Parts: sequence; C-alpha cells; structure tokens
Amino acid sequence: MKQASRAVHAGRGGKAGMGARTPLAPDLSTAAVHVYTDLDDYDAVAAGERPGHYYGRNSNSNRAMLEQAVAELEGAEAGVATGSGMSALHVAILALAPKPATILATRELYGGTLALLRQDLEPAGYEAHFVDMNDLEAVRRAMDGAGLVLIETITNPLCRVPDIEAIASMARASGVPVLVDNTFATPVLCRPLALGATAVMHSVTKYLGGHSDLVAGVVVGSTSHMAAARARSVRTGTPLAPFDSWLALRGLRTLDVRMRRHSDNALALARAMRSMPGVAKIHHPLLDGSPSHAVASRLLPQGAGGMMAFDLDAGRAAVQRMVSGFQMVAFAASLGGVETTISYPEITSHRGLTPAERTELGVGPGTVRVSVGIEAADDIVADFAQALGPGAGRPN
Ligand SMILES: Cc1ncc(COP(=O)(O)O)c(C=O)c1O
Repeated sequence: MKQASRAVHAGRGGKAGMGARTPLAPDLSTAAVHVYTDLDDYDAVAAGERPGHYYGRNSNSNRAMLEQAVAELEGAEAGVATGSGMSALHVAILALAPKPATILATRELYGGTLALLRQDLEPAGYEAHFVDMNDLEAVRRAMDGAGLVLIETITNPLCRVPDIEAIASMARASGVPVLVDNTFATPVLCRPLALGATAVMHSVTKYLGGHSDLVAGVVVGSTSHMAAARARSVRTGTPLAPFDSWLALRGLRTLDVRMRRHSDNALALARAMRSMPGVAKIHHPLLDGSPSHAVASRLLPQGAGGMMAFDLDAGRAAVQRMVSGFQMVAFAASLGGVETTISYPEITSHRGLTPAERTELGVGPGTVRVSVGIEAADDIVADFAQALGPGAGRPN
C-alpha cells in the first residue's frame, strides 16, 4: 500500500475492521471505564493478553486507533499517543534512555525541547550535548559516550535537514538509540525508521492533526520501547483524550494531500520571495543554494513540507509592518495548519534563548518563520508581496 492509501485506511485493522455494519468513521468513545462481568477476562485484558479497554488512562479505542495508524504510517511496530508533543517527547526519551545519560542533540532544537532538556532532564542527571548535526565529523566525535541521539528531520526555524541516515548509521555502530522529531516532515515525506532511527515522535498538534484544533503527541517504535513509553505515560497520567484522538485521526486521513500541497506552496513562496523587497535571506531546504539542498533532495524527494523562513533586512519594525499589512496570512505561534501563518522566533519558539544564542543559530530580529498553508499558491505569494510592498522593507 502507498502512503496516500495508508493515510486513509491505517488503524482500521484492515479488512476485518471494515466488516458489515461497522462504522466507516470511528465512533467516539468517551467512556472513562468499561464494565466487566468475568474476573478472568478483566485480568487478561489488564495484563495485555487479550484485546480490550478497561480504564481510560490505560487505553481507549479512539487513542488506540490513532496510535496504530501513526505506527503503520511510520513503519513502526507500535505507538503511544499523549496529551501533547512535549509529553510524547518526554516519554520517548525516558523509554530510550531510562537512566541519566548524555543526550546528543541538534543545536537547532525546538525551544520547548531545549527547555525540557535544560530545566527537567539536566537537574535529574541527564546531560545535553549540543552539536551541529550538519557537521557529520562533529557528530562522529561526539557519539562516544552518548546515551541517546535526538534530532529533528527539518530544523526550526531555518529548515536545515540533517543526514538522518548517516547519523543513524554512526549511532548504530556505537549502540546509541536515535530519536527523531518528525513533526515538520511527517511520514508522508520522510520515514526516519527506514533510515535507521530507533523511534520517532510528533507534535500531532501540527501536520498530523492539521487543522490547528487540538494539542496532541505521539511516539512510535519497537514493541518493547513502546511498552516502556506507555507504562511511563500511564503512570504519569499523560494519555491523549478520546475526542482529541478522534480529531487527530480525522486530520490524518487527509495528510497525504495536505503535505503535497504544503510542499508545493512553500517552494513556490520561497522562490517568489527572491524578488520581494527587503528580503535578505530565504531558508528552504530545496531552494537552490540552500546548505541542505543535497541532503534534502535525497531524504525528502517528494517535497520538504510547508515550513520555510526568511530574514528581513530591517528587523522587527519591518516584521511588524508586514504583519499589519497582511490581508490573509496570520501571525500565530504554531504551525502545520491548513492556513498560512507566520511566527516570529525571537518572541515565540526561541524566546527562551539569549540574544547571543539566537545569533549563533542564525535567528535574528528580522527572522520570520512561515507555515505555508494549503490555500492557492498565488494568493499566498500575493499577500506576502503586498505586505512587503513599497516601504515594507524599510525601518519605521
Ligand atoms: C518540532 C516540534 N516538536 C515538538 C513540539 C511540541 O509539541 P506540542 O506543542 O504539541 O507539545 C513542537 C511545538 O511547536 C514542535 O514544533
């Protein structure tokens, strides 16, 4: 089955799940608890020896369907859905590195991930070691002594694409598990497990859900890693609620068509931006001249998704002028929805970093991140063009 078909059918349990009179779209089960009349039956279900649900923190039919669907799309044995991308990341790290260890991570991590490492995991004995994942020699040198590698398929906000395949191969040689945050690419465009990763997590809030109407996370990997992640999620009480699971699965059904349109539109906008006033730099992995062009062309042959960024010469004042000038595009500090939105990393995703740290990453007062939606490409380009039009690139 191709990914486009899998996105539509995954999690239904194949033909068996589509028997006579079964609902085509899943029923929503909000029950917190199920009734049992046979103690042995309960015992077997609670032990995981028999399928079924008994208590909502442990499992739920809508959550189970979403978990199965994402696992199928990523080519994993199992999945665990949680109440946010951050909780998915947390249980994933603890499943792969249960004892304090050195976490080798990309320098360009999502801000929330960086905060989790620094404020929660480091005080508990973990150590974060940041390297430029685009520098494979530096990664090789840092692999010795690492307990986990944490990378993002496409980095935020500058959209660099590390060579997951090469990094995973080095990690395997050293016996180090690799966790990939595949939020920006989704399994439609990249399947990190097939490239050698150990487990994959998503902020389902973004593209998998796709409609900016839920907060959710998921991690997928081997049966044993996912059993550990699930146990942790059950103990700490982070499972995803039934309705959000239902909504996420509904979003997932259109993932393939959305990702193709997001990818086409983002590349069209990135190309069109080259002739817009006041734009100093454009960051899109498949744009000619991008430092990630070769790796992205190999690892993301069907497109790089809807994320791109650009720098305005004239800094914050020019960004404000552009925001005020938009007719359709909105400033909203998330991504992955059907609408085109922009974010301003200095005060959103990267606000927890010092100015020096932001500068080191290449994030400045003129840096704007765009989550390119699925509207008509011409309308998106036209809105940026008019918002950046005469005068928009100059300081106030
Ligand atoms: C790449 C990435 N990973 C993880 C997260 C955290 O996800 P959530 O906000 O669903 O907890 C985000 C959120 O912006 C993200 O962009």
